[in-house]
Amino acid sequence: MHFWHTLPRPFFALAPMADVTDAAFRRMFARHGKPDVLWTEFVSCDGLWHTRERQGIPDEENPLMRDLLFSEEERPVVAQLFTARPDMMEYGARVARELGFDGVDINMGCPDRAIERQGAGAALIKDLSLAREIIAAAKEGAGPLPVSVKTRIGYAAPEVARWLGGVLEAQPHALTIHARTRHDLSRVPARWEYVQEACALRDAASLATIIIGNGDITSREEGTCRAQEAGCEGVMVGRGAFGNPWFFSPTVKKETLPLAEVLVALVAHCRLFEELLPHKPFHIMRKHFASYVRGYPRAKELRTALMACHTADEVAQVAAREAAR
Ligand SMILES: Cc1cc2nc3c(=O)[nH]c(=O)nc-3n(C[C@H](O)[C@H](O)[C@H](O)COP(=O)(O)O)c2cc1C
Repeated sequence: MHFWHTLPRPFFALAPMADVTDAAFRRMFARHGKPDVLWTEFVSCDGLWHTRERQGIPDEENPLMRDLLFSEEERPVVAQLFTARPDMMEYGARVARELGFDGVDINMGCPDRAIERQGAGAALIKDLSLAREIIAAAKEGAGPLPVSVKTRIGYAAPEVARWLGGVLEAQPHALTIHARTRHDLSRVPARWEYVQEACALRDAASLATIIIGNGDITSREEGTCRAQEAGCEGVMVGRGAFGNPWFFSPTVKKETLPLAEVLVALVAHCRLFEELLPHKPFHIMRKHFASYVRGYPRAKELRTALMACHTADEVAQVAAREAAR
């Protein structure tokens, strides 16, 4: 039995977010309020193949392999992959298996033009038969690991029966539904009624795929309500968890914590970023600063001071100055 069936109901997942849910971010969450399952950022299968098999870059020096770094405390952890080529997906899934991941997830929802131009991400919503070939190839490469898909409710318009129904027929172990179309991007509120429709479709067809609803969830309580209404087994949270490694904790609410404690966590996050991701520029960390301090008195001044930092030590100095006030 694979891990999807051992999770609580509803379970909570931390969404994959490129340049956000890196190894440092995930480790912070694993320590402060662990989600029931975590995803890596998305990684290109073609890129993995090219850098490892063509260019022969050693794994320790390969930035794509570093994106697949995870620690035992994150388990269960799923590697998210993208490609438009079944052979590349098989390769990527095999790499994920060799690295010891708990599952392989296929990105079929990313609206980034560079990804879509390759025929990957959300472009696959327009090509169900290729999408299904890619799912089959992932299963081949993943061996005993469960394979999941993360997608949207349609391309230009919701297409629950054709698209989500078609993916369900390929029987992925789990399906995350970001409740917006490709054209919606993130501009309209998430349309959870379509998650409910997909669950009803799955139940009517007696399929075993676990469904995870995603979009605009801002608290565990809201996620639990949404899951009950839609009839899905899990809830995935992305932006709602920014700057809040306690988001998934059933006991600690960030709103109840003093600023000093939040700043201690922010400094720890910066130090983990430098330690685990030395190949990434520190400015990537800056996107977290505003969310960590939002809602606290003097948030604006603090954010300005933090934004001027270039290292974890400088962030620690800002935090120490704040503590001494
Ligand atoms: C900065 C950012 C990066 C993202 N990167 C990915 C990604 O690598 N793979 C993916 O499947 N979705 C990605 N997404 C989409 C999220 O996983 C999620 O589906 C979306 O943000 C909606 O959930 P939310 O309303 O809880 O944020 C990204 C979203 C954001 C905001």
